[in-house]
Amino acid sequence: TKLCWETYFLILTFLTFVDLLMHQSFSLSRPQCHRCEQTACNCSRQNLGTVPTAPSMLIAELDLSFNTLQTIMNNDFVAFASLQTLIMNNNRIQKIQEQAFVPLTNLEKLDLSFNRLDTLSAGWFKNLFSLQHLNLLGNKYKMLGQGNLFQPLKRLKTLHFGGPDLHSIRKSDFSGLGRLEKVVLDGRNLQVYAEGSLRQIEPIKYVTLGLNGPFLRNQALVGAILSDVAHPNTTLTFADTWFSAKYQMFPFKVTRDRGTTSVIFKNVNMTIPACMEFLNLLSDSNLTMFALEDTQLILSSVGDIAYPPHMDRLEAVVFKNVEVPRFYSFPALFFLQPLLNVVRRVSLEYMDVSDNLFSDLALTQMMCDGKGGLWSLQTFNISRNYLHSISSQLFTKLDKLKNIDMSGNVFRSMPETCYWPPSLQFLNLSSTHLAKVTTCLPVSLHILDLSDNDLTVFNIELPFLTELYISGNKISSLPDGGLYPCLVFLSIQNNDLQTFSSNNLNGYNNLKSLEAGSDTYVCSCGFVALMTSDWTNHRITFGDEFKSYICASPDAVRGESAADVRLSVFECHTALAFSVLCSGILLVFLLIAGLCHKFSVVWYMKMTWAWLRAKRKPKLRKGELEYDAFVSYSEMDSGWVEAHLVPELEQAEPPLRLCLHKRDFVPGGWILDNIIDAIEKSHRTLFVLSQHFVRSEWCKYELDYTHFRLFDQNDDTVVLILLEPIDKETIPKKFCKLRRVMNSRTYLEWPDDDGLMPRFWQSLRTAIKRPDTDDGNCLQFDNVDF
Ligand SMILES: *[C@@H]1O[C@H](CO)[C@@H](O)[C@H](O)[C@H]1NC(C)=O
Ligand SMILES: *[C@@H]1O[C@H](CO)[C@@H](O)[C@H](O)[C@H]1NC(C)=O
Ligand SMILES: *[C@@H]1O[C@H](CO)[C@@H](O)[C@H](O)[C@H]1NC(C)=O
Ligand SMILES: *[C@@H]1O[C@H](CO)[C@@H](O)[C@H](O)[C@H]1NC(C)=O
Ligand SMILES: *[C@@H]1O[C@H](CO)[C@@H](O)[C@H](O)[C@H]1NC(C)=O
Ligand SMILES: *[C@@H]1O[C@H](CO)[C@@H](O)[C@H](O)[C@H]1NC(C)=O
Repeated sequence: TKLCWETYFLILTFLTFVDLLMHQSFSLSRPQCHRCEQTACNCSRQNLGTVPTAPSMLIAELDLSFNTLQTIMNNDFVAFASLQTLIMNNNRIQKIQEQAFVPLTNLEKLDLSFNRLDTLSAGWFKNLFSLQHLNLLGNKYKMLGQGNLFQPLKRLKTLHFGGPDLHSIRKSDFSGLGRLEKVVLDGRNLQVYAEGSLRQIEPIKYVTLGLNGPFLRNQALVGAILSDVAHPNTTLTFADTWFSAKYQMFPFKVTRDRGTTSVIFKNVNMTIPACMEFLNLLSDSNLTMFALEDTQLILSSVGDIAYPPHMDRLEAVVFKNVEVPRFYSFPALFFLQPLLNVVRRVSLEYMDVSDNLFSDLALTQMMCDGKGGLWSLQTFNISRNYLHSISSQLFTKLDKLKNIDMSGNVFRSMPETCYWPPSLQFLNLSSTHLAKVTTCLPVSLHILDLSDNDLTVFNIELPFLTELYISGNKISSLPDGGLYPCLVFLSIQNNDLQTFSSNNLNGYNNLKSLEAGSDTYVCSCGFVALMTSDWTNHRITFGDEFKSYICASPDAVRGESAADVRLSVFECHTALAFSVLCSGILLVFLLIAGLCHKFSVVWYMKMTWAWLRAKRKPKLRKGELEYDAFVSYSEMDSGWVEAHLVPELEQAEPPLRLCLHKRDFVPGGWILDNIIDAIEKSHRTLFVLSQHFVRSEWCKYELDYTHFRLFDQNDDTVVLILLEPIDKETIPKKFCKLRRVMNSRTYLEWPDDDGLMPRFWQSLRTAIKRPDTDDGNCLQFDNVDF
């Protein structure tokens, strides 16, 4: 015995070691989940083959769905003691070790659906005291364990179970489930049901039954189930089933007998006769609510409505997403007429009769001439029918109507005024051959689709519009943004827009996205700049590709994408370039003119010209000279000239002939010509120098010319009279020669002393006098009044 004990002890130690080792290696090879936030880890779709390590003991929610888990080990959740939600649907779990969920005493929700479990064990649940929601759908088990499977789950509220393999349900399967509120059973291939199984937990508030196979082959089994679950306080939902024939509906007799009040068909296909049979069976029952959701109603044969059902207690009929294929080929919902006559609440919110053969007349009838049937309608789809007029008055009274899709009919025109319900927000009038829009369009619209029509203008004010689709028309300019203050999205592709500018776009206060691609654009500089500018900084983005904005002109860039075109500066700023050029030229011109003015260039040029002419003329010989002296003097000094000089010289014996500009110049002749002429014809040039003279412009010219002459001939024709002392520095520098002359030559000074006068005159006469004087005609102008 001792040996035995020792061996036992050894084996135990070894096993413990191996266990430890394995544990260690498992936890070492355990993956991590990197998507944990606070107390929740969402490790869905992470390709996990095993349960990851817990980042902390506080994790309350763990989502391991859509991974590749196969086996759940005893120690997988040791570190997840706080777990409340464990989601493991859509893995490949085949085996769960008996103790795997033992640590999860706080677990409230466990989802094991859509795995490969072929047996269920009561051991798994024995510690899940808090579990409220359990999902076992879509596995491979044929029955619910060995019985008493859910016994420990005293708090369970919702139970989803079953799958294509579920074969039988026994009475012991549901023992202990006192608080169940909701059961979802997928028994599509259920063969055996022990009567009374589900009745143990009545009443369950919500029972959903997927019994496609039994409804087809074993109505007795369906009846047994229904008689267990049907109850006035139970909502029965029949899902994923095909009801094609009347006989399949017989089990519903039970629901009537047991006072069922609410029946929902969800995701089923049902023929009209089957549906009528159902209604007949529940005629005069306590049914108050009847719903068809996600249902296809199929016509097989229209039976007579011999005994119209009486549904006196019916309060609500819900048609939600009911599809009636080939709606046009039979009087669709006529069979519901008796039913609808008595109900107090019909909720038809969405009606899609698109792709049918509705004419204006048929629509008018269906809409009860606009008298307001279908009051709860929110969406009406009558696209692609045979309507020819926009009959808004049919909808006027439907004050819940938000969306109308009338696309693909042939309207061609719209009336000037329409009467839409004020709730209307969405209107689809695309592909309806409209050539013009009018104020028929409802002001309340948020979304309007008028694409693929023949519109040339769009200018109707719609203050609430947020989305506008007007692609595929012939519109030639961007609509005025001011009419659409709320517009966020504009689609105007494939129209005849030649261009648009940022100014046009700025007219839209709220526009965020624009789609305007087309191949009609005139790629002006402004447009190209708009296309190539950095739109990421801009409020509005182009929803379509830049490649779709194609240039139609200018010819050089035809067919190119506007965003790729590069235009030269001169092409882009023609006016500016020209004006810059012109003002440049003007400026140079003005500059030259200014310089000419400043430096008397014109005068100098004229003078040069006159001088050249004078030079070419043969010089007058002494005898041909008309005057003895040309007197150049400042106007201010004319008093002295007239009072002293002229009398003294002209009345001398022999008289000297003086040429005075006031008296002797040819009237009308150019002053310079006169001066040159006078100087040429005079023996001497007499300058009466004074401060005035130096300041006088006029005299400067004379001096200038004489300068030329002096320079040219270097003769001594100049006689200077100094009326008053002149500071030589005050003589402008350009008269350098005068300065030199004054320096080098003696000049006659008008004496202050009267006694020196005769000598002054004598000297002057001598300086002027010609050797032999002959008569001139200078004096012949004596009487001319200047
Ligand atoms: C986990 O993330 C997936 C998307 O990756 C999401 O569908 C799922 O609802 C999330 N699970 C939980 C529990 O929030
Ligand atoms: C059905 O529910 C109501 C309250 O909703 C309750 O008063 C009534 O007792 C219930 N009937 C049965 C048979 O449980
Ligand atoms: C209903 O019929 C459609 C084909 O018309 C089919 O695809 C669908 O699976 C059917 N649904 C059920 C619940 O049988
Ligand atoms: C139908 O309802 C009435 C009162 O609400 C009730 O007296 C009657 O028993 C119900 N019928 C069935 C079959 O439960
Ligand atoms: C109307 O039905 C057509 C299909 O016939 C569908 O393309 C369109 O989206 C539907 N319109 C609305 C507003 O649901
Ligand atoms: C309007 O109807 C056309 C054709 O049915 C469809 O292509 C388009 O998407 C609809 N417009 C909107 C804004 O839904």
